[in-house]
Amino acid sequence: MAIISQIKLDALKINYPKFSEAVSIENLHEIFKYFMNLEIPEDSIKPTIDENIDARKLLETLWCEYFPESFLHDFPCEWRNLLMLIYLHALSDYTYLKGTKKSKSLQEFFYENFAEYMKTIEGACNVINKLGIELGDFKIKINSALSIPVKDNSIKAVVTSPPYSIALDYIKNDAHLLRYLGIDIALLRNQMIGLRGKGKEKLKFYECDLRKSIEEIYRVLENDGWAVIVLGDISINGNRTNFKDKILEWSKDIGFKETFALDRAILGGFARLRFEHLLFLQK
Ligand SMILES: C[S@@+](CC[C@H](N)C(=O)[O-])C[C@H]1O[C@@H](n2cnc3c(N)ncnc32)[C@H](O)[C@@H]1O
Repeated sequence: MAIISQIKLDALKINYPKFSEAVSIENLHEIFKYFMNLEIPEDSIKPTIDENIDARKLLETLWCEYFPESFLHDFPCEWRNLLMLIYLHALSDYTYLKGTKKSKSLQEFFYENFAEYMKTIEGACNVINKLGIELGDFKIKINSALSIPVKDNSIKAVVTSPPYSIALDYIKNDAHLLRYLGIDIALLRNQMIGLRGKGKEKLKFYECDLRKSIEEIYRVLENDGWAVIVLGDISINGNRTNFKDKILEWSKDIGFKETFALDRAILGGFARLRFEHLLFLQK
C-alpha cells in the first residue's frame, strides 16, 4: 500500500510527452520481460516497525539491491516505479482472473494496463498544466497504526479505514504481490490488525488492537483535531458485530470530546457487508 501510494503520487510529476516517447511499443516487451524474470529471494524484505523506513527508501532499496542492472535504471525513478506498478497490477489481474471467463495472459494484462495508465497520466498531466496546479509535498512512512511514528498532539486530522473485523485476510489476498517483492509474510501477518491469532482469540486480538489504534490516533491528534474512521459492519457466524458502538464508547473513555456517526448503505458488492459507518471523533 505504501509503495503504491508513493508511486501514484510521484506519477503526478511525470512529464507525459517525454515518458510516452521513451517507453515505446518496441521496448515495452523488454520492460515486461524484465519484470517477469525478476526474482527477489523469499523473505528478503523484513517489515518491522523499528526501522522507521519510508516508502521512497524502500523503493530505492528494491532498485539498488534486488533489481538487476538494466536500461530501466537509466529512467527517472518515477518512470520505472510506475512501470513496475503496471506490472504488479497485471500480476494481480492475472492471479485473480485465472480460470475464469475473463482470464488472459500476464502479458496481455500488462499491455492493456499500460494503455490505461498512459491515458490516466496524460489526463492528469493536462489538467495539472491547464489549471497551473502546484503540487504539494508528501511523505509516506511505513509503520503500524499501533505505534504511529509521530509526536503527541502534532496532527490536525486523521482519516483511516481499519480492517473490517476479521472479514478479509489482506495477506492472503495480496500474497502474490508480497512474494514477488520478497516481503517476509509471516512477520507482516503478526503485525496486522485482524490477522493475529487463531479461532476465538482472533476476535479478541482484533478488538484489543483496534482500541489501541484509536488510542494512538488520540495521542497524535492536536487538541480540537478530528479523526474520521470508515468502518464496515459485518456478521461473524451469523452474529452482527457492533464495533461502531464499541468505538464510540471507547472514544469517550479515551478522551474524545465529540463523537458522532453517519451510516451509509453499501449496495451490492461484498455480500456480508451491508453498512459502512463513518465515525467522527474530535479530540
Ligand atoms: C479496510 S482496509 C483499508 C484500505 C485503504 N484505506 C484503501 O482504501 O486502500 C484496511 C487496511 O488496514 C491495513 N492494516 C492492517 N493492520 C494494520 C496495522 N497494524 N497498521 C496499519 N495498517 C494496517 C490492512 O493491510 C488493510 O490494507
